[in-house]
Amino acid sequence: MTTLEPLPAPSSTTAPAKPVLLIVDDEPGPRESLRIVFKDRYECLLATCGKEGIETARRRPVDTAILDIKMPDLSGIEVLCELKAIDPNIECVMLTGYETVETARAAVHYGAVEYLNKPFDVFVIREIIEACIARRQRKREADTSLQTLQQVNDELSRTLAANARAAAADVLSAGVVHELNNPLTIISGYIQLLNRDLAKLTSGDATATQNMQQRLAAVQREIQRCKDMAERFLHFSRSPNAQLELVDVAPLLEDIALLLRAHPAGRRAHILTQILNSSLQIHTSSVEIMQVLMNLGVNALQAIDSEGTVHFTADRVDQPPVDCVYHSLNFDPHHPHVCISVSDTGCGIAPEYIQKVFAPYFTTKPHGTGLGLAIVGKLVGKYRGAIEVISTVGRGTTFNVYLPLAT
Ligand SMILES: Nc1ncnc2c1ncn2[C@@H]1O[C@H](COP(=O)(O)OP(=O)(O)OP(=O)(O)O)[C@@H](O)[C@H]1O
Ligand SMILES: [Mg+2]
Repeated sequence: MTTLEPLPAPSSTTAPAKPVLLIVDDEPGPRESLRIVFKDRYECLLATCGKEGIETARRRPVDTAILDIKMPDLSGIEVLCELKAIDPNIECVMLTGYETVETARAAVHYGAVEYLNKPFDVFVIREIIEACIARRQRKREADTSLQTLQQVNDELSRTLAANARAAAADVLSAGVVHELNNPLTIISGYIQLLNRDLAKLTSGDATATQNMQQRLAAVQREIQRCKDMAERFLHFSRSPNAQLELVDVAPLLEDIALLLRAHPAGRRAHILTQILNSSLQIHTSSVEIMQVLMNLGVNALQAIDSEGTVHFTADRVDQPPVDCVYHSLNFDPHHPHVCISVSDTGCGIAPEYIQKVFAPYFTTKPHGTGLGLAIVGKLVGKYRGAIEVISTVGRGTTFNVYLPLAT
């Protein structure tokens, strides 16, 4: 025989709207009165014997149970033990008409929170059950928070492990590139020797000798390119500790313009400088800031296909923009800055690439390493600066580099 209320179809995803109270008592009187007391606040599941109570708790998650101690099939203590095995967080309150110290002690020992005598006081039992349900909900919330924390912790551990692997790969690749430099230097030396020997050869076929010399020259050029790439990669991964000094911006721009005019890519372009404020100083390393401007200048020259202009300007800016595409975490837009602009009338950068150009290895050039702007970003970031990129495809690009003005 069963007096179980009809159970909704089991579902593991939909949480019950009301907390669930299981009432297990073989006597219909107390069982019904408990149901009447609690039916408005909780979803009441009734069971007439111990086995039925256990079966119900297996089929439905139960928040709190009221268990009669003395039942024909199983004692309330046995039911209590079974319920705790199903879910240790079920709160159990024991009811009995024949109280003994032993059963009370056993109930508490197995995890019951209260022990009440029949007939029970409605107000007392309501207060007790409410406290049980509240405790159960707090536990559930704590479990959810713990689970979330566990997930965050797992995620962090995975990220840390990935970062450690990436750092190890960086060290490893820097080592490999460094090692590659040695055989490249040796090959380059042998090619020079071969060239010399070839010139001494007195074979009658002058064209064949000339061809061989041209091919060796080509190999030599490619080796030089590999060495240059290796050099840039090593510079990028080493992050040297450069000397800080007070650098005058005006002569720096003149030096850069001179260097770029001598650069192979610079023959097609007019290189101009314009200093709008002659007393601009920045606290940085002159070598590193030269590297920044050289990388930007070479890119500007390479962007120009035929005729064009590369323009360097410098000025003081009291309120630099806050939305630069690249900025140091320590960039302070409220501090006065020097803005060094490198503008070209070249091919421009497609809008979808603007966010990517500072990423290491991003390149659109057949022989580019994609490290030029990554180095620029890293160095400008080191000096608490920011970089703004303004570009129109087919018309040209301006890189505005903001560095804190030395005061
Ligand atoms: N002034 C510019 N005009 C147009 N495109 C540019 C300009 N500066 C940078 N870019 C784009 O950004 C990419 C990345 O530049 P970056 O200097 O990092 O590498 P790279 O020039 O391709 O190679 P390298 O390592 O030899 O400098 C370039 O390949 C190019 O597509
Ligand atoms: Mg470049």
